Parts: sequence; C-alpha cells; structure tokens
Amino acid sequence: MIVTTKKLFKAAYGKYAIGAYNINNLEQAMGLFKGNVDSKAPFIIQISKGARSYTHKKMLEGLIKSADEVFPDAIFAVHLDHGDEEACYDCINSGFYSSVMIDASHESFDKNIEITRRVVDAAHAKGIVVEAELGQLGGVEEHVSVDEANAKLTDPRQAREFVERSGCDSLAVAIGTSHGAFKFSGSQGLHFEVLTDIQKELPGFPLVMHGSSSVPQEEVARINAAGGTLAGAKGVDDNQFAKAAVLGVTKINIDTDGRLVWTRVHREYFRDNPEQFDLRPVGKIFMAEYAKFIADKNVKLGSAGTLDDVRKNVTA
Ligand code: G3H
Ligand code: 13P
Ligand code: ZN
Repeated sequence: MIVTTKKLFKAAYGKYAIGAYNINNLEQAMGLFKGNVDSKAPFIIQISKGARSYTHKKMLEGLIKSADEVFPDAIFAVHLDHGDEEACYDCINSGFYSSVMIDASHESFDKNIEITRRVVDAAHAKGIVVEAELGQLGGVEEHVSVDEANAKLTDPRQAREFVERSGCDSLAVAIGTSHGAFKFSGSQGLHFEVLTDIQKELPGFPLVMHGSSSVPQEEVARINAAGGTLAGAKGVDDNQFAKAAVLGVTKINIDTDGRLVWTRVHREYFRDNPEQFDLRPVGKIFMAEYAKFIADKNVKLGSAGTLDDVRKNVTA
C-alpha cells in the first residue's frame, strides 16, 4: 500500500525512524520489499534522478506497482530523492509519487526558500508532500559536489524561518553525515548538539538524515578481499539512529550500504565461481542478502515490528 510520508512520520515521530532506501533495479526492489515485510516495517522507496534515467522512469514505476501486488502487506511511500524543480514537477504530475524532495540546498537561503515554495505549492495542490534541505552535506551528490571540508551544517537559527516560509513538510538537515562510502576522514560523528537545537526550533516537525549508510567494515573487508579497492571507507554508527529518532529524525536515508551488499555478493560469487555466466544464481543470493540487510537495519532504526500499528493508523 502506497501512503504519504506524512502518515508514516506521524506514527514514528520521537519513537523511531523510517528507513528510506534507494533502488535502481528489480533485484533491489525484491530484496527491499522482502526485508521490510519480513521485519514488519514501513519504509520509503527512494528514486533518484539517476535511478529514473538508468533504464526508463516507467520501468521503476512498473516494478514498484508489481511489488505492491506481490507483497500485499507492505506499507511504503514512493519518494523522489534529491530532485531539482524539473524532476519534482515531473514526479508530481506522474500521479505515482507520494512525496518529492526538492534539493535547493546549494542555493542561497532566500533562493532555496523561493524554489522550495514553488514546488510545495505544486505538490500540495495534488496531495503530495515535500522534503526540503537546509545546510549542505559533504560528499558527492548528483548535481552538486561539496567538499567535506566545506560542508555546512544546518544553522538551527534559520530552521524555523525556512520551514514557515517554504511550507515544506519535512526538513533534511546537515549534522555531520555525508553521501557515499567515505564519510569521515578522522573520528567525526553526528552533531547531536546541532540536532537538539534544531528540534527546539521545530518541535514535532519531521527531520531527515541523509548520508546515513554505516559502511560496515566487514562488508568493506570482504569486498577488498575479493578484488575491491575500498580502503578507508567509513560510515555512520547506526547505534546512534535511536538517539537521532528521539530528537525528531523520522527518515534516515540509506543507499551506499545496499550498493556494498551488491558489490560484495557479486565480487565473491564470480571469484568463487569463475565458470559461471548465468545472472540468476548470483541475483538470488543478492536478493536474499539485501533482504537480510534491510531487516537488520530496520531493527537499528526502531521501525521493525511497527507495521501492524502503522496499518491501523494509516487506514483509520
Ligand atoms: O544521495 C544520493 C543517492 O545515494 C542517490 O545516488 O544519484 O547515484 O542514484 P544516485
Ligand atoms: P548514503 O550514501 O550514506 O547511503 O546516503 C544516501 C542518501 O542520502 C540518499 O539521499
Ligand atoms: Zn541524500
């Protein structure tokens, strides 16, 4: 069942965070749905601009519609990840997405508000909710590259004005995370003092944490042992998710970790089975491993086991 993130956030706020997982293909979709249904968790499917153009945007829509039938117990939102205005309008008008993210965080404060407001007006007219971003994460995003050293944490003093003037429904905040597999060069971590101040400015308002893959060291070691060169990869400590949830984080974005599972499974499989050229045996292993990863991650997020409760709320 596709629902808006607004409904999911209402059920989760202050208690747990919903996993927002990016997908690009069939195997990810299958693993994602299975892992969430197995762990009885609501979830958010994220589709980036790159994912929409990887094959054809309609292919992903078709996959998700089919998965909704194959997994009738699943409760999820379909979300555009890091959209620009053009992508947002395309998704709003598609009639398929339940939420969009407008990412104008690289613009000035006023320009960010102006762009976000336009998208909010178009989205709300169709019952679609909008995530916006204030502050800048480190790491590489699709359309903007920000050096970690120049990453700008969200200024809590700007947060309320931004939300009031833009009309956004949730806010992605920069509190020390970054996209990709190389998040921290030293021993940096999440800036809970910034998050605490943001929540004081925006009590009860859903916050979003991007760049939240934990880049498991065992996964990295296995990839490197099977021919990868990911030395120094490092992520967020997912034991900190519960604390972030209490401070108002209701959506936690995870993409890189899924890519690491994919890379580990495929590298090991073809190393160990050099005679193989059938894509299905390894695809089956990946789907099972990704489902297991999702189910375990939902335990860290606190969303595991909440599905029946969420069902009562969204259908009430
Ligand atoms: O934040 C970016 C997401 O990980 C999506 O990545 O734009 O390469 O699909 P992508
Ligand atoms: P990771 O690169 O940490 O998985 O972050 C993904 C993300 O923020 C998608 O918007
Ligand atoms: Zn992101």
